[in-house]
Amino acid sequence: MSGVEQRSDVQGIHSLADVVEHSELILTCGPGGVGKTTTAAALGVAAARSGRKVVVVTVDPARRLADALGLDDSAEADEPHLVPGVTKRATDGELWALMLDAEQTFDRLVREQAGSRKQADAVLNNPVYQAISGSLSGAQEYMAVERLHQLHVSGEWDLVIVDTPPSRHAIDLLEAPDRLVGFLSHPVYRALTVGQRTFAKITDAASSMFLWAVKRLAGPQIVEDTVQFFRSLANIEGGLRQRAKEVSRLLRGDRTSFVVVCSPRAEAVGEAEHLLDAIAAKHFPLGGLVVNLIHPLPDPLSDADVELLADIGEGPLAEQVEWHRELTRLATAERNELVALEKLAGDAPIVELPLLDVDIHDVPGLIGLAARLV
Ligand SMILES: Nc1ncnc2c1ncn2[C@@H]1O[C@H](COP(=O)(O)OP(=O)(O)OP(=O)(O)O)[C@@H](O)[C@H]1O
Ligand SMILES: [Mg+2]
Repeated sequence: MSGVEQRSDVQGIHSLADVVEHSELILTCGPGGVGKTTTAAALGVAAARSGRKVVVVTVDPARRLADALGLDDSAEADEPHLVPGVTKRATDGELWALMLDAEQTFDRLVREQAGSRKQADAVLNNPVYQAISGSLSGAQEYMAVERLHQLHVSGEWDLVIVDTPPSRHAIDLLEAPDRLVGFLSHPVYRALTVGQRTFAKITDAASSMFLWAVKRLAGPQIVEDTVQFFRSLANIEGGLRQRAKEVSRLLRGDRTSFVVVCSPRAEAVGEAEHLLDAIAAKHFPLGGLVVNLIHPLPDPLSDADVELLADIGEGPLAEQVEWHRELTRLATAERNELVALEKLAGDAPIVELPLLDVDIHDVPGLIGLAARLV
């Protein structure tokens, strides 16, 4: 078996119901388009209906789902909103939702870490920051986990659920905090942030080549702005490093659960296998595997039925039988595709969610999905 850190080793977690009842942080991650955002929202519904006060951080939800969660394009979508219609019974908790805004999250982080308003403004008002914030590689992923940290330490929530940005590689989320530290340690960054005098003396080939190239491509002003930007960032560097470490620790805490979402498509399965390997190798706690969008396996025909149907010729009944065979073949092929993946999940709970013939875009749809998940 793999070295996956199972939640079941820690606190008797055997199902996704246990995960939503006992975790303080849940991250849904997986390949693109498999239902991560939908699963994050449905887990939130399940947790709220088990009495907890939950906030779900969604990233780029489909329009109609965003509407159902009470999130629109306004700036306040980045702050928690109470989702109506989820909790009705006295024993229910509350479901809140927000839409991740990477820029606002970073602005908040900079303001918190800066020693003064002036220091914060030096970073935030720099034209380079304004041009690159939100589009830095990995920034979305880092900001998703940063937002998780902000909400967790506020102490207001029993459970924070974070959805993963649609990225080319689901693994980016796991590496985001280390990547930030790596960036702060990069020789070019180090060379750019040393004091003015030292900077003038610097003969480091990498950074002078870099600046020469930038100057040629973009003109001297942008070089000046870039250098100023990195210098202003250097003032809060200690804070950023410290925070990246805390986030990294939080992601491995005993009340954190990663829920990997996947579909039975070969490409998605390959990526999910890679992700489960990385989760195990980097000691992140796996809370469960959700296999979404799977075709249900039809009940097999009995021997008597097979005999009866042996020579039915053509017609609607024959078409039904053919359809039954086709669906059985497809559903079986999907399950074969998943064998290795399910092994990698070790003892973590595995839940199959069928491919539904309707889109899940409203609260009743999420309540139905939550019931299937837990
Ligand atoms: N079990 C299901 N049956 C039918 N439709 C589903 C199911 N699960 C999710 N969907 C639909 O599939 C679409 C993609 O789902 P979702 O946005 O949750 O995926 P995602 O993994 O978050 O995608 P991205 O990687 O782009 O963020 C949505 O329209 C959603 O309603
Ligand atoms: Mg999504």
